[in-house]
Amino acid sequence: MTDLSEHRPFSESQAAPWWTRAVVYQVYPRSFADSDGDGIGDLNGIRSKLDYLAELGVDVVWLSPVYPSPQHDNGYDIRDYEDIDPVFGTLDDFDALLAEAHDRGIRIVMDLVVNHTSDEHEWFRESRSSTDSPKRDWYWWRKPREDGSAPNGWTSAFSGPAWTLDETTGEYYLHLFAKQQPDLNWENPEVRHAVYAMMRRWLDRGVDGFRMDVINLIAKRAELIDGPERGAGDGFVMGPQIHEYLREMHREVFDGREGAYLTVGEMPGVSIDDAALFTDPTQQEVDMVFQFEHVSLDQGAHKFDPIPLDLVALKTSLARWQVGLAETGWNSLYLNNHDQPRLVSRFGNDTDYRYESATLWALVLHLHRGTPYVYQGEEIGMTNVRFESIEHYRDIESLNHYREAVEEFDQAPSSVLGAVHAMGRDNARTPMQWTAGEQAGFTTGTPWIAVNPNYPEINAEADRASGTSVFAFYQRLIELRHTNDTVALGDFELLEPSHPTLYAFTRSSSSERLLIVANVSDDPFTGDLPLDVSTAELLLGNYPVDADLPLRPWEARLYRL
Ligand code: GLC
Repeated sequence: MTDLSEHRPFSESQAAPWWTRAVVYQVYPRSFADSDGDGIGDLNGIRSKLDYLAELGVDVVWLSPVYPSPQHDNGYDIRDYEDIDPVFGTLDDFDALLAEAHDRGIRIVMDLVVNHTSDEHEWFRESRSSTDSPKRDWYWWRKPREDGSAPNGWTSAFSGPAWTLDETTGEYYLHLFAKQQPDLNWENPEVRHAVYAMMRRWLDRGVDGFRMDVINLIAKRAELIDGPERGAGDGFVMGPQIHEYLREMHREVFDGREGAYLTVGEMPGVSIDDAALFTDPTQQEVDMVFQFEHVSLDQGAHKFDPIPLDLVALKTSLARWQVGLAETGWNSLYLNNHDQPRLVSRFGNDTDYRYESATLWALVLHLHRGTPYVYQGEEIGMTNVRFESIEHYRDIESLNHYREAVEEFDQAPSSVLGAVHAMGRDNARTPMQWTAGEQAGFTTGTPWIAVNPNYPEINAEADRASGTSVFAFYQRLIELRHTNDTVALGDFELLEPSHPTLYAFTRSSSSERLLIVANVSDDPFTGDLPLDVSTAELLLGNYPVDADLPLRPWEARLYRL
């Protein structure tokens, strides 16, 4: 493995870790490409698209979970960590995918979901069988309170209580997500070592790292579970042993291995100071984290309470993370993934300025310092979907929220559906739109979730044939990260922080200074640019070149000053 400790902070040195110049592409296997006509994407489907990914130029593919699973949460409820779900294929298919990806210089990163298992995992089946099962303590079991109620009032991320009473032994078990996703007890060293052994087996198989699902929730505060005050979020976000567990994991799994790995921890609620600690190379925990601050700014009281985006809040938030991790640690850069609505609908204009706003956000994001993540379909400007009825939705989070809001809180179905349109995770999960043919070329069968009806217009084939191709724009950005030291490692400075529609910043190194200006608006920007560009070289833009014009709606430019 690259020796990270010598290069802190990462500078313009050739020896900065490989992932400082890399771009990651996330594949959500169910929705990417279906090779066998059962309506669900699979490993051989992904294999058939490796040339597409190689042309895009990405260095890494992060695969959302493909392990055997009852699929209550689309594979984030794992029944067996050691195998592949038959809907996705076999271990042989996986090995073939890995080999063919490696042949093209693409690394494969697996999703590691170890805050919880499925309730069908043999560990949980054993654990629930009796109070003296040898695996009882692998999960969080508690007796009911005197009145029979749950041990505390924690709620699940997917609505309802975080505790379910299990008839077999009359005790409650903890699940921060669905009741089919019981939380593992990381205080038990047997659990930790079973997880590390499983991770080593995947690395032995040839995989190139892990994206770690809600990894900052693995350490709980047992005293808050049992104590009189019974805290909520404080009880499970970033418990006191979290750094110890991640260091132990790193030691047990990666020490002594030759190879170029990538680890990224998904961490809801992580602060900049925490992130600097998690990603400080001398600590040997994770290479980077997914933080949530910038994707929470358009939410009111909760996720399904959308409020308009305040651009000033967004750019100052991202800038704080840039500055906060400049000396120590490293940022991940994302605006889209399988849990977030589509970027161009959420922060752009997906009707009149779809190409312009998709490429504006791409340029802004990819010119920050950090490792960019592209989510399938983002590179062709795919949009949110607005299904007419809740019947068409599949995501457990949206379905549970809808039921609770309508049935228990008496909210109007149309307004709850409106919130699902804006914020629901299925926006990101409708099938990848490859062609204008049937089912967007995703499947020859009936897809597990309907294709977005705009596929005849928005699809990879049409995008790539067009003079304004979002795909081609991403290719340029990815190439810039590979070839330009300032893009990869230069210092970041936000300009005009309080301007309501102009997003402007510089990236600087000893050899050059880059200026990024972006007009986040349907109206032209007629003011002065923050720096003089009269002698600057325009490196990339999303409009026909005419540097004399003020910025047109959703225009973004990259200059070398
Ligand atoms: C993460 C995943 C999400 C999943 C949840 C529970 O947030 O990204 O899709 O539902 O963890 O595993």
